[in-house]
Amino acid sequence: MSGPNTNFDPKQVAALGDESVEAMVDAALADIAGAANLDALKAARLAHAGDKSPLALANREIGALPPAAKAEVGKRVGAARGRIGAALDAREAVLLRERDEQVLLAEAVDVTVPVVTHPIGGRHPLTTLMERMADVFISMGYDIAEGPEAEAEWANFDALNVPPDHPARTMQDTFYVESPDSGVVLRTQTSPIQIRAMLERQLPIYVVAPGRVFRTDELDATHTPVFHQIEGLAVDVGLTMADLKGTLDHLARQMFGEGVNTRLRPSYFPFTEPSAEVDLECFVCHGASVDNPDRPCRTCGSEGWIEWGGCGMVNPRVLRAVGIDTGTYRGFAFGMGIERTLMFRNGVTDMRDMVEGDVRFTRAFGVEA
Ligand code: DAH
Repeated sequence: MSGPNTNFDPKQVAALGDESVEAMVDAALADIAGAANLDALKAARLAHAGDKSPLALANREIGALPPAAKAEVGKRVGAARGRIGAALDAREAVLLRERDEQVLLAEAVDVTVPVVTHPIGGRHPLTTLMERMADVFISMGYDIAEGPEAEAEWANFDALNVPPDHPARTMQDTFYVESPDSGVVLRTQTSPIQIRAMLERQLPIYVVAPGRVFRTDELDATHTPVFHQIEGLAVDVGLTMADLKGTLDHLARQMFGEGVNTRLRPSYFPFTEPSAEVDLECFVCHGASVDNPDRPCRTCGSEGWIEWGGCGMVNPRVLRAVGIDTGTYRGFAFGMGIERTLMFRNGVTDMRDMVEGDVRFTRAFGVEA
């Protein structure tokens, strides 16, 4: 066995020579300085400070050197590795700071950018109109009355003097709940609320009842199976048809403007006697189309008037059905469609627009709270 070579000159081991160590350091420092990002720096760390880096390999050879050379070479290689380590750490600190700044920039939120808001839907014009009509009566001292949509057949028909064989009571016109002998219908009109009001309230009575009603109609431009009415009822001492007319005129002016003309046209309803239709003067031709074939009017069919609702003096048979003394009290009542009113008032020509729920239709009436 041969002992260690005490005459060894480190410069003879190529990798440990002064210049080669310096060259390794230079190469490392150049790579480190050129590392543009943390990934590149990681690769540089592996190449110049990893287990298989030239300096690490050279370091391993130190053990084979004679003791005299070991200290000198060890110091030099150690210093070289130290410089590389320090350069790596310094560059890493710079790159980390740069990355954090980038992240902050990229994730910055500009609070001044306008946000995409979810548009609020418009209130349905029928709801608004129904409330406006009710408000006209509130300001005259009326109360709001209510009743169920699934109503007793008795209140919807019998108590209102609609006889059992009346055509309106057939299943062709009325939605019966469960079976025709269940005694429950989807109310076909708001008039049963009159019956409830008279049964429940003290006299005198002044009520309006807006609400939803149901009939077995197909949906088309002028019909819908679910629609809305507003009902009015006054029961007091000494009421006459003139009170009814004055009340309806007031409502018409509030709805259509001061200049609107109304007329009562004799008609028939089982629950009023006498009964009338309340007509509005045609707001398109104002009567100019009547007997004037040159100027036909589609809106009123050249009648000059359009039907708005029904009304009359409460039939004494109805008052008696709810136990009101007909010797002392009289009443007037009326009812009209909200959809029809909206059609006249806002020029809506197709009923389907009101039920389809397209927010563009609703919004055309303005967004109200
Ligand atoms: N309920 C009737 C209908 O749906 C409208 C009506 C007519 C109501 C005369 C009334 C009235 O209160 O007196 O056609």
